[in-house]
Amino acid sequence: TIRRPLIAGNWKMNGRLADTAWVERFQDALVASEVDILVCPPATLLHAFGELLASRAIALGAQDCSPEPDGAYTGDISAGMLKDIGCSYVIVGHSERRSGHGESDALIRSKAEAALREGLTPIICIGENLDEREVGRAIETVLAQLAGSLPEASAEKIVIAYEPVWAIGTGRSAGPDEAQEMHAAIRAAWPGADAQALRILYGGSVKPDNAGELLACPDVDGALVGGASLDPRVFARLVNLS
Ligand code: G3H
Repeated sequence: TIRRPLIAGNWKMNGRLADTAWVERFQDALVASEVDILVCPPATLLHAFGELLASRAIALGAQDCSPEPDGAYTGDISAGMLKDIGCSYVIVGHSERRSGHGESDALIRSKAEAALREGLTPIICIGENLDEREVGRAIETVLAQLAGSLPEASAEKIVIAYEPVWAIGTGRSAGPDEAQEMHAAIRAAWPGADAQALRILYGGSVKPDNAGELLACPDVDGALVGGASLDPRVFARLVNLS
């Protein structure tokens, strides 16, 4: 395959300065080398992580960015600021921001565009909720989110994360068949001729126990891992599967 797997850890609102010890513990347990590794700690830890990761083959990412460049936007962080402290990726449109902060597809698209302008790779999250799956509208919902959130860019410059809302933090991951079906639909909907270069991550209760079967799906190019990324040894076990 032309796509190198990407395993990303999203710490969400967890972590204190003392938790930067994670980096060394993770590195000690890491065996895999044919995989891109990304860690997205909270904004307060990005700088400290950046200094620790600079010498290692682990990328740094943020969990959100402003659609705006610098300016009078109290509390916000621009993509340029993230670039400045060593980030190369930024998650945009996570379901916890779509539902908890009312973020629309259009806003997420403009955040992704802001990231691209700074040379960051946006990880654009999409996923249906349980009702939408149960009434048989999962693919339709996800493809509508994709169409609304996608900036114009070549496939290698962005990453898509498919995260069914019902699987996030619930311990109930999508099955490999459900994941593969959705990932294939997302790839088929990619507007350019370079769909084979698009990395599509699965997220939602990924753990060392189920990561192997999910990552074995032909259109699953990695994982966006929440809870199981907080413990460095668990996350290393998971990365070592790819
Ligand atoms: O960004 C990560 C996802 O929301 C998955 O979280 O692995 O804790 O279910 P989880």
